[in-house]
Amino acid sequence: ATAQQLEFLKNSIKSIPDYPKPGILFRDVTSLLEDPQAFALSIELLVERYRDMGITKVVGTEARGFLFGAPVALGLGVGFVPVRKPGKLPRKTFAESYELEYGTDQLELHCDAISAGDRVLVVDDLLATGGTIEATVKLIRRAGGEVKHAAFVINLFDLSGEARLKAQGIESFSLVNFP
Ligand code: PRP
Ligand code: ADE
Repeated sequence: ATAQQLEFLKNSIKSIPDYPKPGILFRDVTSLLEDPQAFALSIELLVERYRDMGITKVVGTEARGFLFGAPVALGLGVGFVPVRKPGKLPRKTFAESYELEYGTDQLELHCDAISAGDRVLVVDDLLATGGTIEATVKLIRRAGGEVKHAAFVINLFDLSGEARLKAQGIESFSLVNFP
């Protein structure tokens, strides 16, 4: 990726003050999705980064992880596996709880969607605290998959998600960094 390409992507992301509450500067990836050149470039750069790395499945987490994970899977020529909020997946699932700012939520993965020997890439729109992807990684490992890499469009580096994922043996990669 060139510095110019990454600057173009960064400029396509609108920043919304005081959303969802006062003091938060929300990095809105929907403005990137609305720009077909920015959307295509984000997918191309992620596919380029992970091509020839032996990835056999891409996992994306509901909901915004689907928007980037599914096209990256197509670009890599591998299957896409959704991790979903509780009660949405019809077959047998593994479930993991994770911390939210207030209370906890749960994520689920179809037990038979990942097999031993799968080398899984996790894709999401944005890395904040890393809680969502830590839970996602635990689900993939319970299903027998190997996961060492997670890719994001945006990293909010002040929230230290990369260090949290590193502690789980995950190397993070992000196209755009914001405080
Ligand atoms: C957002 C975002 C990431 C996660 C990042 O999803 O899409 O998945 O938060 O935060 P973390 O690193 O602190 O876990 P959200 O839970 O808002 O759900 P959505 O994709 O359905 O909007
Ligand atoms: N998730 C957590 N913090 C966020 C922010 N500032 N912008 C977008 N998504 C977020």
